[in-house]
Amino acid sequence: MKNWQQVFEDWWHKNSSDDASHDLGHFRRVYKIALHIAAQEPEESDPLVLMAAAYFHDVVNPPKNSDLRSKASTLSAEKAAEILTDIDFPQEKISGVQHAIAAHSFSAAIPAETIEAKIIQDADRMESLGAMGAARTMYVSGRLGRSLFHADDPLAENGRALDDKEYGLDHFALKLMKLPAMMQTESGRKLAAARAAYLEDFRAQLAKEISAEF
Ligand SMILES: [Fe+2]
Repeated sequence: MKNWQQVFEDWWHKNSSDDASHDLGHFRRVYKIALHIAAQEPEESDPLVLMAAAYFHDVVNPPKNSDLRSKASTLSAEKAAEILTDIDFPQEKISGVQHAIAAHSFSAAIPAETIEAKIIQDADRMESLGAMGAARTMYVSGRLGRSLFHADDPLAENGRALDDKEYGLDHFALKLMKLPAMMQTESGRKLAAARAAYLEDFRAQLAKEISAEF
């Protein structure tokens, strides 16, 4: 049997993007997290479908502020099917990979109907939580020319509305802290809760440092 992970890695080495929040490292981690969740779920999942979906779920990756963003997962699913067909991936598994990719993003609003789709959605959400989530969120903010945080009211405690189009830190409260409740698998929910707690600590610590408290 082919070493599919090597084939996928080779594909990415030839087609790498300059977006460090959606690079080969992100795909490798989503795959590892997916395997970790799959091992704890009572329902059996197809590891090869998980692998292909993890490696190609962001293969079409418009900027976060682009109008194409809500279509990104559908476009990624279509492109992944083309790539997988080209590299002779088992044909009977491609529709499962396509569904997992199409359903992975929140903005696509496509319900995850298979266990593989649920696991990939959870694994990808884990990358928006914890230290990794903090690092990736701030990276994306910087890349879009946004500020890291509101200098005078970083936690929006003094009446201002949260605005993650302006401040990276606001994305934590507006979106990331809501992810644990949106997880699809039991094991994903537990993992997400732990990483969300870390994010909450990070947010509080950052606010302390901004106001020069020790
Ligand atoms: Fe992703």
